[in-house]
Amino acid sequence: MKNILHIISSPRADQSYSKGLSSAIIDRLSQSNNIHKIVVRDLIKEVPPLADEVSIHEFYKHPGMYDERSNQLLSYANMIVEEVKEADVIVIGTPMYNFGISASLKTWLDQLIRAGITYTFDEQGNRIGQFKNKKVYLAIASGGRKTEGNPDYLAAYLKDVLKTYAGITNVKAYWVEGTVENGFKANYDQVLNDFTSDNES
Ligand SMILES: Cc1cc2nc3c(=O)[nH]c(=O)nc-3n(C[C@H](O)[C@H](O)[C@H](O)COP(=O)(O)O)c2cc1C
Repeated sequence: MKNILHIISSPRADQSYSKGLSSAIIDRLSQSNNIHKIVVRDLIKEVPPLADEVSIHEFYKHPGMYDERSNQLLSYANMIVEEVKEADVIVIGTPMYNFGISASLKTWLDQLIRAGITYTFDEQGNRIGQFKNKKVYLAIASGGRKTEGNPDYLAAYLKDVLKTYAGITNVKAYWVEGTVENGFKANYDQVLNDFTSDNES
């Protein structure tokens, strides 16, 4: 029985191709797995708080030093950490904005990743990611195409963050490209033609 976490970060609601693609991935997962729970974290309906001077101070504290005020300031961060902890599979939808991820997804990541929580250090000072056994699918929508000059470091960036700061190495990226072209129609079946529910790359 799997728990799925669905991250939505496009403001375009049902017009959004990244949401369409991430939903298509969840449909595929539901066909091939016993799903216990699907949690939807819509970063537009509930925008993550920006880290500010006061909350950043809490982020740097050793978790053993948290007090009641820390728990208030970290309430969003703690909530999304629990959602990620509970999930076996995380499906992240993001538009490409200026070659990068959406601002809301970046803000979510900045709230999620935390020393002592998503990663710790061993005695030699090596970082140890804490969420090793999770699977992540990236559902990326871009107006342009990689073959026409779009860089592909958006997926590379997310893979590096997830690996380095959370220990998640099982990340597979799917792209729906050319969404601003005249007459564009999304074909999610084609995009997901090599889909398996436990891709390793
Ligand atoms: C602010 C903004 C910046 C964008 N930057 C890029 C870009 O750098 N490269 C690109 O190919 N498309 C870019 N686009 C187009 C979006 O990637 C495209 O509309 C995509 O379908 C958005 O995802 P969504 O359909 O999930 O909302 C941009 C769109 C907006 C609104």
